[in-house]
Amino acid sequence: MNPQKHNYNLPTRSNLCKIFAITAFILYIFIIYHHSISSFCNSPLKKPLINKAIASSISPSPSPPSPPPPTNVSHLVFGISGSVNAWRDRKAYFREWWRPNVTRGYIFFDKVPTMDILPWPGINKLPPYRVSENTTKFKVYSRHVKPEVIRIVRTILETFREGDKDVRWYIMGDDDTIFFLDNLVDLLGRYDHTKYFYIGGVSECVKSNFDFSFEMAFGGAGFALSYPLVEALVANIDRCVETYPFYFVSDQILSACIADLGVPLTSEKGFHQIDLVHDISGFLSAHPQAPLISLHHLDIATPIFPTKNRHKSVRNLMTAAKVDQSRLLQQTVCYHKQKSWAFSIAWGYSAYIYEHTIPRSILRRPLETFTPWSLKRRPPDYMFNTRLVNNNSCETPHVFFFRSIKRVISNSNSNNNNNSNSHSNTTTTDEIMMTYTRYKPRQLPPCSPNHSADHITKIRVYSPTTKLDFAENRGECCDVLNHVDGKNTAEVRIRACKKTEIIIV
Ligand SMILES: *[C@@H]1O[C@H](CO)[C@@H](O)[C@H](O)[C@H]1NC(C)=O
Ligand SMILES: *[C@@H]1O[C@H](CO)[C@@H](O)[C@H](O)[C@H]1NC(C)=O
Ligand SMILES: *[C@@H]1O[C@H](CO)[C@@H](O)[C@H](O)[C@H]1NC(C)=O
Ligand SMILES: *[C@@H]1O[C@H](CO)[C@@H](O)[C@H](O)[C@H]1NC(C)=O
Ligand SMILES: *[C@@H]1O[C@H](CO)[C@@H](O)[C@H](O)[C@H]1NC(C)=O
Ligand SMILES: *[C@@H]1O[C@H](CO)[C@@H](O)[C@H](O)[C@H]1NC(C)=O
Ligand SMILES: *[C@@H]1O[C@H](CO)[C@@H](O)[C@H](O)[C@H]1NC(C)=O
Repeated sequence: MNPQKHNYNLPTRSNLCKIFAITAFILYIFIIYHHSISSFCNSPLKKPLINKAIASSISPSPSPPSPPPPTNVSHLVFGISGSVNAWRDRKAYFREWWRPNVTRGYIFFDKVPTMDILPWPGINKLPPYRVSENTTKFKVYSRHVKPEVIRIVRTILETFREGDKDVRWYIMGDDDTIFFLDNLVDLLGRYDHTKYFYIGGVSECVKSNFDFSFEMAFGGAGFALSYPLVEALVANIDRCVETYPFYFVSDQILSACIADLGVPLTSEKGFHQIDLVHDISGFLSAHPQAPLISLHHLDIATPIFPTKNRHKSVRNLMTAAKVDQSRLLQQTVCYHKQKSWAFSIAWGYSAYIYEHTIPRSILRRPLETFTPWSLKRRPPDYMFNTRLVNNNSCETPHVFFFRSIKRVISNSNSNNNNNSNSHSNTTTTDEIMMTYTRYKPRQLPPCSPNHSADHITKIRVYSPTTKLDFAENRGECCDVLNHVDGKNTAEVRIRACKKTEIIIV
């Protein structure tokens, strides 16, 4: 190496000092700058897109705001429109879902309660009741086509006026609406309560939606309004009542009012008006792939469990709901290859065996055991496809209904009897075990000679103890467990589907 070659470049002593000072200064500035930026936005260079959003949302304050705590049942307030005359019969349904000391809300009666429903049970049994404000004083009252609905429309205003704190959502419902609270809380948790939201469901019947509106939440199914929407609504509610004196249903006036505020309906498939009569078991056995939020009109349809009365039927469904609401009514289909049977399970409600491997895409259409509200069939009657009930042995299921449920510890031998590490290391798993029992003999010849399911009297269904995650947006799979020959109990285990698994024979 020749030092001389580089000599011309060597700085003098004083220059060296200058360069050192400047370098140190630049370094200092850089460190300070970099440090402050990274404490602001968690290393901006790694995730530039995300950090841009965070930085702009927090610009004035030095520490990022924590997200609001997750929505829980305490953030909900219910406003129930009730009728004094119907309460005696309806309170049994109401008590099945109301959680004393947990659920917040009020029942608004049409008149002062009569002695037969008094004394009113304390707050630790039922919500407090209120008597709706007398609306005869309103100018519009005399020219309204159905003045009684003004009271029901104003339930939201009267609920809001109670002034509850920390409310994110107001839930409106009738005294015969049954809510599934855990599912409702999870559903609402997926929406931003600081924005304007009107969440509910339309009717099952095309005609009802045509007559009222396809953009209206049907009140019997219940619906949810975010806090800011309720603020806007109550500021205008009396004007809306005056604007729409020709609407004879309160839901119509409310939906018109909300539309005029510029807010659309967010339709969720788990809200059920149940504008269906007679036997609704076909409908409940093929629930859409969405969490069950509400049921209505159960005192009009025949009991949902044919061997029980209406109230005991609801209680039976709630027995399953208490163990796992997320899966309630969710349909799972699997096949027994050798027998050519299809199993369709509606979790916590029914289990069907078909003696034919009907594809899942067809089985998700409800069997039309029911009749539209209008009682007249003039297709298209429903907002969904159905399968007609007939006497075809290959299309008519053997019907079993939910009987009991418990948590069990079982030796996990994997799902298909083929456990790779099957030495003495037996892992035990916590599972839910349900029993479904045959309702009645099918009284049809078998679909094919040696494959009758007539001898099956019970179906045992196992399912995971973890909640079903609807964000996954995929139904579950199942396996038919044992050899069913000679046994009269069939066993099915529900599990997550494998990555590319298709439910096909
Ligand atoms: C619901 O969340 C709030 C915080 O927003 C909390 O104070 C409250 O205790 C929670 N309630 C329940 C029942 O978990
Ligand atoms: C509800 O709360 C009251 C008072 O806080 C208490 O006395 C009552 O036992 C509670 N009821 C239930 C069902 O938890
Ligand atoms: C409302 O007020 C009118 C007139 O004051 C009265 O005739 C009517 O009975 C009241 N209605 C109720 C439900 O109290
Ligand atoms: C099925 O057959 C039974 C008895 O023969 C009859 O009463 C019933 O109406 C039939 N049902 C249908 C849907 O055809
Ligand atoms: C079960 O395991 C055996 C060997 O351990 C293997 O040959 C067979 O293919 C497996 N069956 C299934 C259905 O995975
Ligand atoms: C079972 O396997 C796990 C994990 O391999 C191990 O930690 C555990 O000790 C085993 N238990 C027995 C009883 O062999
Ligand atoms: C049904 O079973 C009988 C005897 O068990 C046998 O002879 C017959 O071939 C079987 N039929 C079919 C279609 O498998």
